[in-house]
Amino acid sequence: MRHLQRVQKLVFGLQLFLLLCLPIPSVWATEPPPARQTELRNLLKNDCGACHGLTLKGGMGPSLLPEALAGKSDELLVTTILAGRKGTAMPPWKPFMNRDEVVWLVGVLRNR
Ligand code: HEC
Repeated sequence: MRHLQRVQKLVFGLQLFLLLCLPIPSVWATEPPPARQTELRNLLKNDCGACHGLTLKGGMGPSLLPEALAGKSDELLVTTILAGRKGTAMPPWKPFMNRDEVVWLVGVLRNR
């Protein structure tokens, strides 16, 4: 019996170890630091707002309000923001923000 207990302890320890090794889900890891969040929110209002409207309800570019984005995947939106859309006025933002920041920004747009 003592032997069985020891094995159980070992298995439990192993499970705990494996659990700790799991990569932290990206949704938790991506939040930019507060100062950068402020920068990105300002950029959204000033730069994105220049084309998408000050309140983002659309201008030269389409509306970026949650209702307008509801049917569109995160992947589509993130790629569009990072790479822009060739042949349209939508410029690539890759030089100014990384993917994690864009993922966070899409969350902001969706009012998450
Ligand atoms: C110079 C004008 C301009 C600026 C600045 C701009 N956009 Fe755009 N954006 C556009 C246009 C035009 C489109 C539509 C492209 C098309 O026809 O597919 C677009 C499309 C998009 C889309 C896809 C929307 C959809 O419904 O598929 C997203 C998301 C987006 N922009 C986000 C941003 C964000 C975030 C910023 C600021 C970091 C930004 N845009 C800055 C012009 C702009």
